[in-house]
Amino acid sequence: MRLLDLLQMNTSYVRCSGVELFTAEGDVILDFLSGYCVHNAGHNHPYIVEQLRDELSRCGPAMLQSHVPDLAGELARRLCQLAGGEMRKVFFACSGSEGIESAIKFSRAATGRSGLLYATGAFHGLTCGALSLMGDDFWREKFGPMLSDAAAVPFGDLAALREQLATKKFAAFFVEPIQSEAGIRIPGLEYLREAKRLCARYGTLFVLDEVQTGMFRTGEFLAARHFDVEPDMIVMAKALSGGLVPCSAVLMSDKVYESVYNSLKRSIIHTSTFSENALSMRAGLATLDVLERENLGERALVMGDSLRARLRQELSGYEMVRDVRGMGMLSGIEFQPPSKIGLRAPFEAFTRIHEGLFGQVLVMRLFRDHRILTQICGNNFMVLKVAPPLVVTEEQLDKFVGAVHAVVDLMHTSASFWTEALGLARRVMNV
Ligand SMILES: Cc1ncc(COP(=O)(O)O)c(C=O)c1O
Repeated sequence: MRLLDLLQMNTSYVRCSGVELFTAEGDVILDFLSGYCVHNAGHNHPYIVEQLRDELSRCGPAMLQSHVPDLAGELARRLCQLAGGEMRKVFFACSGSEGIESAIKFSRAATGRSGLLYATGAFHGLTCGALSLMGDDFWREKFGPMLSDAAAVPFGDLAALREQLATKKFAAFFVEPIQSEAGIRIPGLEYLREAKRLCARYGTLFVLDEVQTGMFRTGEFLAARHFDVEPDMIVMAKALSGGLVPCSAVLMSDKVYESVYNSLKRSIIHTSTFSENALSMRAGLATLDVLERENLGERALVMGDSLRARLRQELSGYEMVRDVRGMGMLSGIEFQPPSKIGLRAPFEAFTRIHEGLFGQVLVMRLFRDHRILTQICGNNFMVLKVAPPLVVTEEQLDKFVGAVHAVVDLMHTSASFWTEALGLARRVMNV
C-alpha cells in the first residue's frame, strides 16, 4: 500500500470491463498490463461471467472429490487438442507455481533423475520448487535453501545446455518460450527446437512454461507454435480461466502421466484440493470459447505487429529507447542509459538510489498523467512491458502510443521530469 501511495497509483476500482478500469473518482484507466497476462479475454467478459453464473445456479458437484468431474475432462480434451503433439493428459492446479511444482515432481517420476535445469532470467513462480528454478538473488534472499539439484544455463546458449544435459543428471529443462519477466526476450528461431532435440538425446524432459505466453497472448494458442517445437510437458495458468477463478494446468504425454499414476495405489499420489473445481473448469471452457470465437489470437498477431511498428516510429530518435520487440500482444520497450551529458548525470544519480526506480517513474507517469496502467518486467527493470487484453481497440492502442511518446519526450527534454523522479526516489528510500 505504501509503495502504491508513493507512486500515486493507489486507486480504488469499482468496475472493470474489457480494457477499461473505472475508478471510484469517476476516472477511466486503460489496462496495458492485464494482471500480468491474466485478462486475455478482457476484464469480466460477459459470456464468461454468464457461464460462471450458470454454473453456480446449477448447484452441481463443485468440489466433491469423489467423482469423475466431466467439466475437467472436457477442458483437458480441448487443451490437449489445441496444444497438439503428444499432449494427452492434464493435471489441474490453482496457480502457475503449483503447475511448476507438479511438473518438477512428474519429470522426476518419469526419468528417475533429480536434477532440474533452467534458463537464466527465468520467472517460474515463488514457491520453493519454482523459486529454485530462478537464479535472481532478489527473489531468493532469506528463503533458502532451495532445491539442491537445480542448475542454470544462459538463455539461448545451446552449447551450455548440451554440456549440462550430457551429464545425464537432469530430469527436466524448464524454459519459457519467450522470457516475459526477463524483458520479453525472444530466442532465435532454432533455439527451442534444438534444445528439445538435445533434451530427447540425453533423456531429459523438455518442459515449456507458457504461463504468460499461452492462451493466444502471442497470437498462437501457445508461443511454442511460433518456434515449431513440441514439448514433453506444458505449464499453463494466468489467462486460462478468464481472469475470474484461479486455475492452472500441466499438459503432458501419456508416458509422463503413466509414470506418476502407474497403479491403483498411486492413483491419488499427486492431487490438490481445488484442482478440478467446477467453477475453474467452467471458466476455462468459457475462456477458450471466447478466445476462439472472437479470433483473439489472429487479432493479437495483426494488432501487435502494428502496435510495435507505431511505437518504433514514434520513439525513434530518442537516445534512451533501445528497442521495441515482442510477439502478438506481448511487447517490451527497452530503455538504456543516456550518453548525452545533460541526461547522464540525473539518470546516474537516480539509478544509484535504486536501479528499479527509473522504470517505476515511467509507470507512474503513464498512470498519473495519461491514465494507463503498465509495469516494468520483474527481472529486467529497463523494459516496460506492454500487454493489454487481446480485445484492445485501435483507438486504445493509439492512446497508448501517444502517451508513451509524451512520457519519453518529457524524459529527454524536461529537467522537471528528473527533479520529480529524484524526489520520488528519495522518498521511496526513506520509507
Ligand atoms: C512465466 C511464469 N511462470 C510461472 C509464474 C507463476 O505463476 P503464479 O503467480 O500463478 O504462481 C509466473 C507468474 O508471474 C510467470 O510469469
